[in-house]
Amino acid sequence: MAKIQDLFSSSQGKRKVQSQAIADSLSTSKQASRSLRHLAIIMDGNGRWATKRHLPRLAGHKAGVNALRRVVECATDENIEMLSVYAFSTENWGRPRAEVDGLMRLFWETIRSDLEKLHRDGVRLRHLGRLQDLSPDIQKAVRDSVELTRDNTRIGLNVCFNYGGRAELVDAIRHIIADGRNPDAITEELISSYLYTRDLPDPDMVIRTAGEMRVSNFLLWQSAYSEYYATPTLWPDFGREDLRQALDSYHRRQRRFGRIAVPPTTVAQGE
Ligand code: FPP
Repeated sequence: MAKIQDLFSSSQGKRKVQSQAIADSLSTSKQASRSLRHLAIIMDGNGRWATKRHLPRLAGHKAGVNALRRVVECATDENIEMLSVYAFSTENWGRPRAEVDGLMRLFWETIRSDLEKLHRDGVRLRHLGRLQDLSPDIQKAVRDSVELTRDNTRIGLNVCFNYGGRAELVDAIRHIIADGRNPDAITEELISSYLYTRDLPDPDMVIRTAGEMRVSNFLLWQSAYSEYYATPTLWPDFGREDLRQALDSYHRRQRRFGRIAVPPTTVAQGE
């Protein structure tokens, strides 16, 4: 820090960098990178977990629900403000019928079995995706659970079920046109305000389990500046220690959002 100050005061004559201003700026940027408000997770590897155990794939998804329960508790302990989890993509309809049906049933059963505890634990549930394409039973269960937990503040859990990043953009554009928006009024903020996540902060980090290095149509717009973290751990095995490692990795990074690390703050002497 002293060196930066010397450099600026000697090369720019009377203009000098105020060390306190730099210290403040550094600590602000450190603060910004340290506070992880929104964690998003691509929960991959359920099928491989099951296959390794000679179990049907659905057993892997059931173990995946247990991992999700565990991670919601760990994330709450870590004071993370909200979690978004990718549970069923718009492309997952292309899986064998039995697996799709199994995932639908599992989603519905999980809402029914876990809602009371989630509510007690202060979890605010949200659904991200095309709810209208799901069965009436699931739609009702989702709407009821969102309504019941809407005032909870301990942690937000956004379940991306029948979610696709491209579908979300298509839906947003349709609504923008239906609202008769003028082309000149189209800004990044306006588009964000038409997404399923309209009132949510962008994810600070996206974790993907099971070793794949793909975005898979997940939160495409929102993750423009998210930190990515991939782990070989299969989702059903993901636990507290894995989450800690991901958070440690996040805290070691410096987020610049396309800018440079520390904007030099210069103040003219005597002004
Ligand atoms: C990807 O693993 C996982 C899914 C497509 C489903 C994720 C679902 C859960 C974790 C459980 C359901 C969630 C709720 C909220 C009820 P994969 O099947 O693609 O695994 P593979 O790549 O090893 O085959």
